[in-house]
Amino acid sequence: MTITSNKIAMSTEQFTTLSKIIYDRSGIHFPESKQYILESRLSHRLRELEMDDFDQYLAYLTMGPYQMDEFQEMFNRITINETSFFRNDAQLSVFEHQILPELLESRSSNKRLRIWSAACSTGEEPFTLAMLIDRTLGVRQNDWHIEILGTDISEKALKVAQSGVYNNYAVRSTPSLIKDRYFTVEGRDYRLNDNIRQMVNFERHNLKDRMAAKRHGTWDVIFCRNVLIYFDDDMKKNVISMFANQLAKDGTLFIGHSERIKDLTTDFVQLPIPQGFCYQRPQYLEMKA
Ligand SMILES: C[S@@+](CC[C@H](N)C(=O)[O-])C[C@H]1O[C@@H](n2cnc3c(N)ncnc32)[C@H](O)[C@@H]1O
Repeated sequence: MTITSNKIAMSTEQFTTLSKIIYDRSGIHFPESKQYILESRLSHRLRELEMDDFDQYLAYLTMGPYQMDEFQEMFNRITINETSFFRNDAQLSVFEHQILPELLESRSSNKRLRIWSAACSTGEEPFTLAMLIDRTLGVRQNDWHIEILGTDISEKALKVAQSGVYNNYAVRSTPSLIKDRYFTVEGRDYRLNDNIRQMVNFERHNLKDRMAAKRHGTWDVIFCRNVLIYFDDDMKKNVISMFANQLAKDGTLFIGHSERIKDLTTDFVQLPIPQGFCYQRPQYLEMKA
């Protein structure tokens, strides 16, 4: 067994094999400079499995009866789940004050609104959107059918989302008025009130899975923030074209503030709204002009 500072050492060949498996399954690209992340995050898993070499782990992951479960277990450990309520307030304000009012107007006849928070981690993003919709619509919400879906590849993250209970760190950017209105303090935790919890459904979804995305039908708004940075250009292109298939003709796509898709797609054009980081179809923008 080769152990360095509590870690089980991963050879370059083992890293190459593992990073290819991860990429093929999820699109997550681990460059060589990130080998230490896989090594440190998975060493603990190897010890739990009483394995002392990454070759054994690779065999376990790719052969035998536990492959699917182990993939899930591995994604639970290697994904970066950093998020918070009201993350990037300026962008959310664009959603609340520009995109949402336009949508409420254009959907006023059937009163249906569908929002997908893709790669939502522990749920803070879709719950934030639920709060913004709740405070915009107030009692008028009873007349509307609002569907918000939060999806992620990590089941562990989704379990937190489904519990609706968060620590102080998760609400670090949440205005106090919102905390008072939508949470109940329980000891050191914040429990989301039922009316907001009930507005959001969660489901495991891998952004590689176009068929599963198709089954969910068409969305009016898609939020996909701070995950494209983990993908290479091919995966980014695939994900953006999948969103183009699943977004309504007048729908809006929001991405993370450090993410760029301009050179990867002709399906979307960025709206000239500072801090918006949001995109619509060129045909729709031409029609509006
Ligand atoms: C940094 S978090 C972003 C959370 C939230 N969207 C935000 O901006 O605060 C990235 C999330 O992407 C998820 N993820 C990574 N690869 C994925 C894939 N192929 N399909 C779905 N989710 C993925 C991770 O599990 C993680 O929860």
